[in-house]
Amino acid sequence: MTGEQRRVSRRALLAGGAGLAGAGVGAGALGVARERRPQRAAFGDETLPFHGRHQSGVTTAPQAHAQFVGLDLVDPGDVGTAAGVLRVWTQDAARLTRGAAGLSDTEPELARLPASLTVTVGLGDRVFRASALAPHRPSWLTALPAFEIDRLDPRWGQTDLLLQVGADDPVTLAHAVRVLTASVRRSVRVRWVQRGFRNSRGTVSGTMRNLFGQVDGTVQPSLDDHDELLWDDGREQSWMAGGTSVVLRRIAMHMDGWEALDRRGRELSVGRRLDTGAPLTGNDEFDAPDFQASRGGVSVIPASSHMARAHRRSREEQFLRRSYNYDDPPSGAVPGSADTSNSGLIFAAYQRDPVRQFVPVQRRLAEHDDLNEWTTPIGSAVYAILPGATAGRPLGAALFDAGGVA
Ligand code: HEM
Repeated sequence: MTGEQRRVSRRALLAGGAGLAGAGVGAGALGVARERRPQRAAFGDETLPFHGRHQSGVTTAPQAHAQFVGLDLVDPGDVGTAAGVLRVWTQDAARLTRGAAGLSDTEPELARLPASLTVTVGLGDRVFRASALAPHRPSWLTALPAFEIDRLDPRWGQTDLLLQVGADDPVTLAHAVRVLTASVRRSVRVRWVQRGFRNSRGTVSGTMRNLFGQVDGTVQPSLDDHDELLWDDGREQSWMAGGTSVVLRRIAMHMDGWEALDRRGRELSVGRRLDTGAPLTGNDEFDAPDFQASRGGVSVIPASSHMARAHRRSREEQFLRRSYNYDDPPSGAVPGSADTSNSGLIFAAYQRDPVRQFVPVQRRLAEHDDLNEWTTPIGSAVYAILPGATAGRPLGAALFDAGGVA
């Protein structure tokens, strides 16, 4: 088979049987059959650890697909049920992430390729209204202040529990979410599911792009600072040692308006180049920005740009951004808007204390950020991300021990 024939047969295959006949490749059918059923592909077998001091899914290199599932406890006052849900999730997640079927998995074949599956569990503030847990609520686990720019839809609001599930394969991911939600169906109700994606594994090296075409996720806290800025050390609530928090904001991105802006305007609104992601004062994505630089008396990076406004004013104002794109069927995501798309970011920021680290930055951006013209926050929630499970100690064990829950 020549290279050209191989290309033709592959294309014909994609087009289906009729394409095969049309391309006149009938005799190549055997070879085609082999091509059609690739053996295990490169990334399917890969696993990430479920057990450990920290849950996976926070500092883990982001997988291509994620589902953020917000769930409410049927009876939030029943702490025993909450502990039971976490026990079931621990067992199922430990199995699924190593490629084994969930405990009551009806489709075990779908569990065979873990594809770097991670399951990360968070608790919302309402869980701590139960009297046994009330003294153990981290002080920062509370609703964010209302911001002027918010147009929050309760459809994407705070829930009791968060399941953040990520994988490099969307079939693996759908199955894992199904197993995890079905196994606790009597104790919880799914309120919302936010499906997100990044570039497919293997297509891009480096930082992802969002649907505005921007390189997004460049500036992050350094690894050396994770113990100070990201992971809780148990000083305030001893059960939180090894945990963290996530602020999850669903932010609509108005493609129509953005596309109407010229390229220069788009770059000025963030303060970075669209092609390389470099600051407007540099050449490389990771060059340090020079916020003082000016040309003809005008700042090269506008002080009103997203990056200048978001840039930390103190060491504390840092968090890990690990966002996903969403692109849902257009359906009036923002009431009253004539958007022809329903796209945006599932913006996920992880930090030890959102009140001290995240809120000051969000407040500044709400006061002014050039990017606000084309973005609208439509969902918001905060969760305590539990410390990791260890063998024999399920997720939440330290909390329920502290609350005296059997
Ligand atoms: C749809 C909404 C948003 C979009 C499209 C967006 C996009 C971007 C882009 C392209 C960058 C520059 C590259 C990088 O460092 O990642 C950036 C930086 C940054 N963004 Fe956002 N962002 C959004 C929302 C937010 C929100 C809600 C916050 C926090 C409240 C935030 C905080 C930051 C921070 C801290 C930086 C780094 C600033 C620096 O020190 O240079 N962003 N964002």
